[in-house]
Amino acid sequence: MKTIFSGIQPSGTITIGNYIGAMKQFVELQHEYNCYFCIVDQHAITVPQDRLELRKNIRSLAALYLAVGIDPNKATLFIQSEVPAHAQAGWMLQCISYIGELERMTQFKDKSAGKEAVSAGLLTYPPLMAADILLYNTDLVPVGEDQKQHLELTRDLAERFNKKYNNIFTIPEVRIPKVGARIMSLQDPTKKMSKSDPNQKAFITLLDDPKQIEKKIKSAVTDSEGIIKFDKDNKPGISNLLTIYSILTNKPIAEIEEKYEGKGYGEFKADLAQVVINTLTPIQQKYYELMESSELDEILDQGAEKANYVANKMLKKMENAMGLGRKRK
Ligand code: AQP
Repeated sequence: MKTIFSGIQPSGTITIGNYIGAMKQFVELQHEYNCYFCIVDQHAITVPQDRLELRKNIRSLAALYLAVGIDPNKATLFIQSEVPAHAQAGWMLQCISYIGELERMTQFKDKSAGKEAVSAGLLTYPPLMAADILLYNTDLVPVGEDQKQHLELTRDLAERFNKKYNNIFTIPEVRIPKVGARIMSLQDPTKKMSKSDPNQKAFITLLDDPKQIEKKIKSAVTDSEGIIKFDKDNKPGISNLLTIYSILTNKPIAEIEEKYEGKGYGEFKADLAQVVINTLTPIQQKYYELMESSELDEILDQGAEKANYVANKMLKKMENAMGLGRKRK
């Protein structure tokens, strides 16, 4: 059975962008693959985090993974910092990364732009991400489009390591959804929706209540044309809303365009809000039940145990290949 690895940062409550671009695929893929899903808290600290908020977000993200349908009997769910091999392997991969290639990463450029103090961790995020993936002999990495460049670097680092030391890494393939790989901000539809956007109106989280969802969709930036038609270049706002509608209802965009022919943005937005509410209500019910139960900690303990076992085996291979420490079996 082929292996999948993917992670999400607990850098806020996940958005419908994270859900559509990543999580929704995870639920479908867990039936066909050996899956590892990770809460990448060490990635989250590459930018400042409030410690209490971070703790809360880690637990909340774990509950959300399960609430959207990740089955702990099928997939391994764990927290990155509870598997120390990630940071150790990340260091080794940093040592074969070039500063120039890390500085070329668009996410580094975007997140460091205009900032006075940028952490070294923000620059070395991609080799840590490569470690996350390579420790599990991963064949496939399901992510949104924004992570494509990091995945290419992961492949480069794996090939570099295999060539320079020993052929131990599987070269992973990226899997990006055909539709919904880049859900855009509701306030600036030329920018991707992000859970850490300072403008709360720019995104819908999986835990927003119906009133918040209605308000955010109502104030989503569109255009003055009044025609509900998919045209990414000229109508990015409406196109983004049509994409969300289409994915959450499983209906082709053309069918939705036809339904709203001659109708206004107000009616379309009100219906879309209802679609989002209908999707999120059962997830939220499950989420609040899980947050109350002890099941969550048991699942995370089991996940960490399994992940540590698998990751440590690869870590030893890496250390042996690089000549670190003493030779061990
Ligand atoms: N707008 C998006 N549309 C589709 N997919 C998206 N993803 C992120 N934003 C969108 C995918 O969600 C997964 C988890 O992302 P992450 O938490 O590891 O980090 P990110 O890509 O940096 O996501 P955010 O929401 O923008 O987080 P912050 O604000 O903390 O940087 C990934 O598979 C990603 O592709």
